[in-house]
Amino acid sequence: MRKKLLTATALTGLLMFAPGASADAPVSGALLAFQCAGCHGFNGHSVGPATPSLAGFPEEYFVETMMAYKEGTRHATIMDRVSWGYTREQFEAMAEFFAAQPYLPARQDFDAELAERGAAIHDQHCNSCHSEGGTFPEPDTAPIAGQWAPYLRDSFEDFLVHDRPQPRGMQRRLSALSADEIEALVQYYASQQDPAAYAH
Ligand code: HEC
Ligand code: HEC
Repeated sequence: MRKKLLTATALTGLLMFAPGASADAPVSGALLAFQCAGCHGFNGHSVGPATPSLAGFPEEYFVETMMAYKEGTRHATIMDRVSWGYTREQFEAMAEFFAAQPYLPARQDFDAELAERGAAIHDQHCNSCHSEGGTFPEPDTAPIAGQWAPYLRDSFEDFLVHDRPQPRGMQRRLSALSADEIEALVQYYASQQDPAAYAH
């Protein structure tokens, strides 16, 4: 009898933590976000390198991104499967939690010469939307500076090869760049490691 009760309690516990278990269950952004920590790090500070940090992401961008993964409109290797079990309301709760965490630029190696070249390319083609050197979290996109370089390379491939949706103005500029110029941009974003640059 006692054993049965325990099993039932354990099961309820599991169900409470299962994504999308019940539409009227209280939604805690922190608890939901904890389920992402294995890959995205504690509080959304990823320890790298192909998994992006999520801390400090604008809520609008976060929710739209999760819905795009869930609806299959954004290319993914993993996030399509992760996102399907959650509701929009749960994404909104997680978004609030992640937006409240400070963005911490990734500590990673970079090539200083290439980074300098990348800075000039960024100022010319990208800063109009990814302002302040890509450190600023615009509502419709994430900070791109300080993000993990391997993730950024994957993102460029998603835009250029896998039709990840992007504004027309970005597509025009990005598709005109050479592979070397794109790598210079990656090095520039990787080089921006001063946390103060992200305190807006
Ligand atoms: C098994 C590892 C794994 C888990 C668990 C995981 N993610 Fe991800 N996440 C990734 C990877 C890898 C990517 C890059 C896209 C891809 O390849 O699917 C990513 C990308 C993302 C992005 C896009 C970031 C950007 O800059 O646009 C968001 C947002 C995100 N994940 C949120 C979450 C949330 C929220 C959870 C928990 C509910 C979660 N992830 C759980 C591995 C994971
Ligand atoms: C017209 C405005 C605009 C311009 C110009 C622009 N971007 Fe973007 N960028 C966006 C928006 C909006 C998104 C978010 C797309 C989405 O919804 O997933 C984005 C997303 C990105 C991402 C993915 C971030 C992530 O976390 O996954 C990268 C990397 C990026 N842009 C780099 C660039 C580079 C490099 C340039 C210059 C060559 C550039 N962008 C020019 C608006 C722009």
